[in-house]
Amino acid sequence: MNEPYGGRLVNRLASGEAAAKLEAEARGLRAARLNPFELSDLEMLAIGAFSPLEGFMTRADYTTVLRDLRLASGLPWTLPITLAVTSDVAKTLDGGPRLALADAVGQRYGIIQVQDVYRYDREAEARNVFRTTETKHPGVAYLATRGEFYVGGPVEVFRRPNDDAFRAWRLTPEDTRRIFAERGWQRIVGFQTRNPVHRAHEYIQKTALEIVDGLLLHPISGETKSDDVSLEVRLRCYQVLLEHYYPRDRVLLSLNPASMRYAGPREAIFHALVRKNFGCTHFIVGRDHAGVGKYYGPWDAQKIFDEFKPGELGITPFFFDNAFYCRRCNGMATPKTCAHDDSARVVLSGTQVRAMLQNGGQLPPEFTRPEVARVLHEAYRTLATTT
Ligand code: ADX
Repeated sequence: MNEPYGGRLVNRLASGEAAAKLEAEARGLRAARLNPFELSDLEMLAIGAFSPLEGFMTRADYTTVLRDLRLASGLPWTLPITLAVTSDVAKTLDGGPRLALADAVGQRYGIIQVQDVYRYDREAEARNVFRTTETKHPGVAYLATRGEFYVGGPVEVFRRPNDDAFRAWRLTPEDTRRIFAERGWQRIVGFQTRNPVHRAHEYIQKTALEIVDGLLLHPISGETKSDDVSLEVRLRCYQVLLEHYYPRDRVLLSLNPASMRYAGPREAIFHALVRKNFGCTHFIVGRDHAGVGKYYGPWDAQKIFDEFKPGELGITPFFFDNAFYCRRCNGMATPKTCAHDDSARVVLSGTQVRAMLQNGGQLPPEFTRPEVARVLHEAYRTLATTT
């Protein structure tokens, strides 16, 4: 199994008496209201999924992450992890006070020890992280909704955000590491997804699994864009797929509480580092990883790994070419392994899949396993009759 990123698994989640004490303190503090995206970052920080980060980024880390793809310490890190506040809140924060961290309805989860309050340049962040400033990009659109200042500093959490939802699949890095050890897995490949697992996903997962000990199927459970399939439906898809097509003792399904950024290449590195914290030794990066629209080239998320020295990231990427079902091969393949042309290949874009489901059409079995297709058809049918 792999060591945590930076050498030590961070734990910012207090329990027992320490948690009660923090909660009592938080009750008496002014609170910042976190949106669901920030709450998911708080959860990632709390459980050590963002090790070595202990809190929201100060200006020093934020600046080097945008500019150099590194923390101020020099360690590679590609996405800002930030907490935004309005200028009214920012004004009250000089002198490094402690600030409670609450959700929109005022439920408190933790405390931040404020080390830094700084104004940031939205456009520069969008250009660096998303390679665009177009508000059609979901990450740029989200950025436009945030307060004008970032607050940086270590956090302490006494209540885990989202603790009640899908509890059985909310394994922390400590949990997944323990399970890998119990199963005797040494080489583990992590798979990021925000989608139901279609046959192309299954093909690249299983191809990777042929050469390692286990697969961590690790779908995102934080915020995704509104036309992505809901977590509840996706979980049903994962369960029927695993039940019918995967060996039970080679796969672990667990949720990654991060939110999607749609930052393509930068997010691929970030996804890999997070999976290292969960104990993975390898990580799958396929076509247009974490992409959206046409903002990134299909292989940019693979090319970015060349910007780091071998061993620097401490997790090995498995790159995959575009996977599809080929009617002539009579099986799954990629351009590396298939001799036929496009007319034999079953390829559907995300937009086409959504349109088919919305219009009540059937997803072909060459694209999606029938058991998974049934879950999706049913979900879209219910949605159509209730909206
Ligand atoms: S993502 O935003 O989480 O990357 P998705 O869930 O579709 O989106 O993809 C999960 C992983 O599978 C990513 O590494 C992606 O590059 C890869 N992938 C998805 N579809 C294909 C495909 N047809 N061929 C090769 N890789 C793919």
